[in-house]
Amino acid sequence: MVNNLNRQLDAIMAQRGHVAGLVLAAGKGTRMKSDKPKVLHRLLDEPMLWYVYQALSRLLPEANIFSVVGFGSQEVAKAFPHQAERFVFQEQQLGTGHALQCAYPRLVENGFSKLLVVNGDAPLLTGQALERLLAASQEQAADIAFISLELADPTGYGRVVRTESGDVQAIVEDKDLASRPGAQAIQEVNAGIYCFDVAALVDRLEGLSNQNAQGEYYITELIDLALASGGRVVAVNEGEDEQFLGVNSPRELIGCEELLKQRRVDQLLDSGVTVHAPDLVRIGPEVSVEPGAELSGPLEIFGRSRIEAGARVDSNVWMRDAGIGPSAWIRQFSHLESVQVGQGCQVGPYARLRPETVLEDGAKVGNFVEVKKSRLAAGAKANHLAYLGDTQVGEQANIGAGTITCNYDGKNKHVTTIGSKSFIGSNTALVAPVEIGEESLVGAGSVITRDVPGKSLAVARSKQKNLPLKKVGD
Ligand code: UD1
Ligand code: CA
Repeated sequence: MVNNLNRQLDAIMAQRGHVAGLVLAAGKGTRMKSDKPKVLHRLLDEPMLWYVYQALSRLLPEANIFSVVGFGSQEVAKAFPHQAERFVFQEQQLGTGHALQCAYPRLVENGFSKLLVVNGDAPLLTGQALERLLAASQEQAADIAFISLELADPTGYGRVVRTESGDVQAIVEDKDLASRPGAQAIQEVNAGIYCFDVAALVDRLEGLSNQNAQGEYYITELIDLALASGGRVVAVNEGEDEQFLGVNSPRELIGCEELLKQRRVDQLLDSGVTVHAPDLVRIGPEVSVEPGAELSGPLEIFGRSRIEAGARVDSNVWMRDAGIGPSAWIRQFSHLESVQVGQGCQVGPYARLRPETVLEDGAKVGNFVEVKKSRLAAGAKANHLAYLGDTQVGEQANIGAGTITCNYDGKNKHVTTIGSKSFIGSNTALVAPVEIGEESLVGAGSVITRDVPGKSLAVARSKQKNLPLKKVGD
């Protein structure tokens, strides 16, 4: 049994080089009621299409994955630059069958023998399901194999019509149900995931018509054409599995997102991450959180963020592409993007760390402090109400409340350097480019426009005058 399975897998692997993936992603997604291409709508901050590529790349090399794009194709190309060289442009979206017609020459040219076609709007899809479909298609030498599922409410989906003996006869689209009495009650639907024998497609693709309720060329009509010319069609029934649900509306998008969210949080809890208020924690699929970290909802962590063991992230924090070192503490209402936070650092509450910010071990950034493209060396502190932009802060330096680096002169950005163990008094403006030497002190309220050498005191403010008050009426 096991040997048999291994042999089958070997056979699939040997042929893998000849299997192409094709993602249908040209449609506007009218039911989303949005100007954005449907496949770019986001679930846990990753575009819908990202999930589909992810499933395909479990079994195919990137070079074998093609996509049909049309509506908003430039935006889609921008979001997926690595895929864009294998985009096929469908100028007018005349239907899923027409999309396949557009891509077919490109696939033949590349010598593929099997083709996995996937609707671009199925973000819950997994690679395993595609494996099973491919295996069934190969074992049963099918011209067409597709995934079907059972839905309590099949509204909107193509229904799988079978003969009395149980063979697939046709897929009838929801909008064409009137033409097929009895099909309305069918609960087995088409998931929009197919495996085609490329050679068997050639004549049949040309035979597609658009004589249906939507006036579109349906990919599903290929089934009628295959059966009519003695081809073999197989449905792989995956039961009620929600991973095949298509997204057509904002409600369906959010339904899928909730499922993904729930799964991710469950995984984290199982792996040893403490997640408080788990229903309110949204973590992207590429985020890694080490066991021993502690998270509190509501919370959002996206992109390629990495939270190391012992780190604590409090509620109402948002972060994307943030590296949080061991035992660091990110406190409430902080916002972090493309930053590195070292071991034992403290951030917030109410801190904003903008891209290219690095906090070395033990550094502290407190409330209402904004940091952009700056490095705070080990143990440096900016605890209250400050702006640090394009700034290098040395070890153990202290940035007083209200310190502002004036890094922008209206045209260019300039760098501020603050030496280690220096102390910048409250409400200081550091007009860049400027350098404060090590172990220096800047008096509160100074406007520093020239460099300050090491171990010095700089004061740059007008002298206080105390004058006698004139009496009113004098
Ligand atoms: C399709 C199937 C239906 C199935 C359902 C599963 C057809 C005719 N129907 O219906 O049987 O139950 O998916 O979710 O295929 N697209 C293009 N070019 C086009 C038209 C569509 O690339 O000209 C892409 C869309 O961007 C989308 C996918 O194909 O990603 C499916 O199109 P959609 O209009 O959502 O098809 P459904 O009506 O949902
Ligand atoms: Ca759809």
